[in-house]
Amino acid sequence: MLLGVNIDHVATLRNARGGDEPSVIQAALICEQSGCDGITIHLREDRRHIKDSDVYSLIPILKTKLNLEMAATEEMQKIALEIKPHSCCIVPERRQEVTTEGGLEVASRLDDMKKFVEPLVDAGIKVSLFINPDEQQVVASAKTGAQFIEMHTGAYSNAFGTQSEEVEFKRLKVAAKMAQDLGLTVNAGHGLNYENVHRMHEIPNLYELNIGHSIISRAVFSGLSQAVVDMKNLIM
Ligand code: PXP
Repeated sequence: MLLGVNIDHVATLRNARGGDEPSVIQAALICEQSGCDGITIHLREDRRHIKDSDVYSLIPILKTKLNLEMAATEEMQKIALEIKPHSCCIVPERRQEVTTEGGLEVASRLDDMKKFVEPLVDAGIKVSLFINPDEQQVVASAKTGAQFIEMHTGAYSNAFGTQSEEVEFKRLKVAAKMAQDLGLTVNAGHGLNYENVHRMHEIPNLYELNIGHSIISRAVFSGLSQAVVDMKNLIM
């Protein structure tokens, strides 16, 4: 399985103070040097974390690939067609949400989604639809021309260690098989962490996981001790 690291929350931290620290570019380069297979960023309509300038700066310097998460809007389609990231993951977006809360509604908007996906695919961009592990959405996704789906693992992650874990996990497994049988490549992400990620191995042929919050959270603690030592040394 490949790992795409979502670095949105490096930008969240940077934006808390304005300025450039911590640098999103440096974060991406460290992730690449540490063996990730791609960098994922979500350019939200409200630009609450990643900004346009981050997208334009990352494109020429990445050695792996950029996966641009974005809503199905004209504005985002225009940006994607201009910068041509390796892949676009189309996500639903609501201004009030803290993070992407549910999967994309494809089944009831099939014609719109086809129209949205087509120019991206024609431009050579791999397109992925972020959907719940739901039969209707999988079947519809296969009709849009997108080559990938990313299964929303939020319900599984929330259920991990509870009675509903098996039900949620089975949904992922069944949806993945169905999507693969329909010719789609299957990714997964959202809420995956160091405890619950191991079950992704039980889903055959899963291609890539996109993980952000748990990696950035762990990085705070794995780096905190050295950061204090460095500052202490400077002021002694
Ligand atoms: N995949 C998609 C489509 C997402 O929207 C997100 C959250 O931005 C992720 C993966 C990563 O989720 P998390 O930060 O919970 O690992």
